[in-house]
Amino acid sequence: MKDDARRILDLNWKDGFTIPTKNLYPFQWNWDSGFTSIGLSHYNLNSAIKELNSLFSGQWQNGMVPHILFHSENEKTYFPNFDFWESSVNKGAPNKPKSSGITQPAVHGFVIENLLNKYPDDQHLISFIKDIYPKIINSHRFFYKYRDPLNEGLTFIFHPWESGRDNSPLWDKALDQIKFSQNDIPSYERRDISIAPAEERPTSYQYDRYVYLLQLGKENKYEEIGIFEESPFLIQDTLMNMVLIRSNESMIKVGKRFGLDTGELEEWQQQSIPKFREKLWNEELRTFTPYDLRNNEQIEFKEIGGISTLFANIPSQKQAKDLNNYLISLHDRGFYICPSFDVDSPLFDSKRYWRGPIWPQMNWMIYHGLENYNFHSTAEIVKTDLLELIEMHGFYEYFESQKSVAFDLSKGYGGNDFSWTAACALDLSNII
Ligand code: DGY
Repeated sequence: MKDDARRILDLNWKDGFTIPTKNLYPFQWNWDSGFTSIGLSHYNLNSAIKELNSLFSGQWQNGMVPHILFHSENEKTYFPNFDFWESSVNKGAPNKPKSSGITQPAVHGFVIENLLNKYPDDQHLISFIKDIYPKIINSHRFFYKYRDPLNEGLTFIFHPWESGRDNSPLWDKALDQIKFSQNDIPSYERRDISIAPAEERPTSYQYDRYVYLLQLGKENKYEEIGIFEESPFLIQDTLMNMVLIRSNESMIKVGKRFGLDTGELEEWQQQSIPKFREKLWNEELRTFTPYDLRNNEQIEFKEIGGISTLFANIPSQKQAKDLNNYLISLHDRGFYICPSFDVDSPLFDSKRYWRGPIWPQMNWMIYHGLENYNFHSTAEIVKTDLLELIEMHGFYEYFESQKSVAFDLSKGYGGNDFSWTAACALDLSNII
């Protein structure tokens, strides 16, 4: 398993950064790179450092780290490509590498803490961390300065791709409310469904709305003021905010070790954590839910973003216990844990992207979250479930969550030879 994981990371290494998988995602993706760096650090710390340096070479002047960096302009298998995004409409976007105009969960703070825990005295790592530290703070500042106009300590997303959970049913209502005619969006050709099976990917109905929101961002030069006023999709997401809070916590720890100023980070935490607990907790569902700023309501579904809050120490002991019991009940009912969406909802679809499958990087975060609360045996299941799926089906992007169905399949879903799957497998299988 470990040898295969290394082979995949090497296969996807492109002289300075790692692609998630060839053909389907042939560039550098933001949060993928974070997890990949953790995987690389097991056998090549230098590459793990390069991975993050490469990602931050695309940071915008406003602090945003884009969700995709198009390091090569010759790669044509992906849509929407650099020419469609046109990041140059924003004055603060670097000319090279070209990028998308949206962001993704801010994993980099906890990633550098992870590397430092592995190599606490490595001088090359320490000097890298001192160099990237202010850049990471600046990327957090972007969220608080531009994505929190209500000053709540909770950041908004204006595109489902930012949440990392592209086609989760969480976004269905907000996407349904987008009214436009086909003439309002440019014609485009999807590439993903000629590479991965269409039934494992978002629908064309959803894709049209992704393109609509992309256009809206571009027309506003990817500037938040206009986007906040105009976007029909404006959501304070659980996962997005959880990751930011978790990375703030890591940055405080790392900063303290080097005697750096952590005041700003601590202020963010003091505002964000209580607000998250108050605004996003749903008493009836006993989980945390995203908040739709346009409809002024919680998005009431049980799904993986709510569960992942364990990773940032957000739930109280009682709330954490409920989340843990929920995971155990899914395990007892014959599911791999943790499915990305409520298995009892009619919207659950165990093979379609974020509507039900198991995702490696989510298991990685939830494993550590359960460990935070001393739910060791559930953490162990979350770890071994993922490793078993990889053993059985290969290093895929995501996996079937119903055991009875999974046993009859010969492979996972989405892209194969996937970097974060390899990285998470390498990291988790090194934990005894
Ligand atoms: C894709 O292309 O499907 C990605 O998830 C968006 O970044």
